[in-house]
Amino acid sequence: MVLMVGATGLLGGRITQRLLARRLPVRMLMRPGSVAETLAAQGMATSPRALEAAGARPVTGDLKDPDTLEAACRGVEVVITTANSVLRGGEDTIETVDRTGNRNLIDVARRAGVRRLIFVSAQRADRNSPVPLLAAKGETEAYLQESGLDYTIVAPNAFMEVWLNLLVVWPLLEGRPPVIIGSGTRRHAFISIEDVADFVAATLCHPAARNRRLVIGGPEAYSLREVVAQAGQVLGRALSMQAVQPGDPVPGVPDNARSIAAGFDVADTSVEHMSELSKTFGVSLTPVTAFLQQALRPIARA
Ligand SMILES: NC(=O)c1ccc[n+]([C@@H]2O[C@H](COP(=O)([O-])OP(=O)(O)OC[C@H]3O[C@@H](n4cnc5c(N)ncnc54)[C@H](OP(=O)(O)O)[C@@H]3O)[C@@H](O)[C@H]2O)c1
Repeated sequence: MVLMVGATGLLGGRITQRLLARRLPVRMLMRPGSVAETLAAQGMATSPRALEAAGARPVTGDLKDPDTLEAACRGVEVVITTANSVLRGGEDTIETVDRTGNRNLIDVARRAGVRRLIFVSAQRADRNSPVPLLAAKGETEAYLQESGLDYTIVAPNAFMEVWLNLLVVWPLLEGRPPVIIGSGTRRHAFISIEDVADFVAATLCHPAARNRRLVIGGPEAYSLREVVAQAGQVLGRALSMQAVQPGDPVPGVPDNARSIAAGFDVADTSVEHMSELSKTFGVSLTPVTAFLQQALRPIARA
């Protein structure tokens, strides 16, 4: 039995669908009063009803309440968690979910005899990071590595479907200029969320994933300026850009993700060894151009 924590999220839902397609028994942690069904109708989450119809078995629980995790973890071999607070808010904060909530999950999973815990972190996770989410992810990674549980940490670069949509694709679809953060010249190995889901599903029970931190990114690293230039090629015209200072509000980006956006102008984040990892886990990587061609199809020249 696999317990999926965060199944109603954008990535969590995709991972759950892959596990169900492999006919694995999947239990999904569901929160009473979850807004996921409403968010799913806006393309911002995965429908719990659809996951249940596909075979996932719901179990009630919340990372903030360790008592509820006991029953959820009972009889479970592997826990996968993608849960995070960024798109939720209210009582779900980096402190309560990404720091304490993850700790709760690791403690309960160990006590329940779970064999492996797969934690979706982020490439730049670091307990000393000035970015609160990345600091909490870094702390969780260390706590998991010291927990005695078998673990896999999947640490992806930025998702194309989140950041390239927000900064480049959606502005263009709405007739606005794409947004670059600061200089827009730092290169990042943006990765498709579909490829991240493939990786996470492939790590399940894979011996090469045991007790490893796997940094994953797309096949090439591009700066936001280069991504906008590629979008211009897809659309057949030169594009102007709107520059936003790091830390300033970015249209469509929640306030608590501003510090993450600012990180795009701090340093390059390329990922080495991707062709080797792709081969090991059988994942073929989506190039940025292919992503842009698909995403900009509604306004591309015939
Ligand atoms: N976006 C990027 O570029 C990027 C890059 C690197 C790494 N990542 C990481 O990749 C993962 C992305 O996951 P995603 O797209 O599926 O996230 P998401 O769409 O933001 O969904 C959040 C999930 O967390 C659950 N959750 C929030 N608070 C909870 C709590 N207190 N107890 C239990 N569940 C709770 C939500 O459940 P409800 O539906 O019930 O609220 C939902 O299922 C995250 O860990 C993120 O940090 C993202």
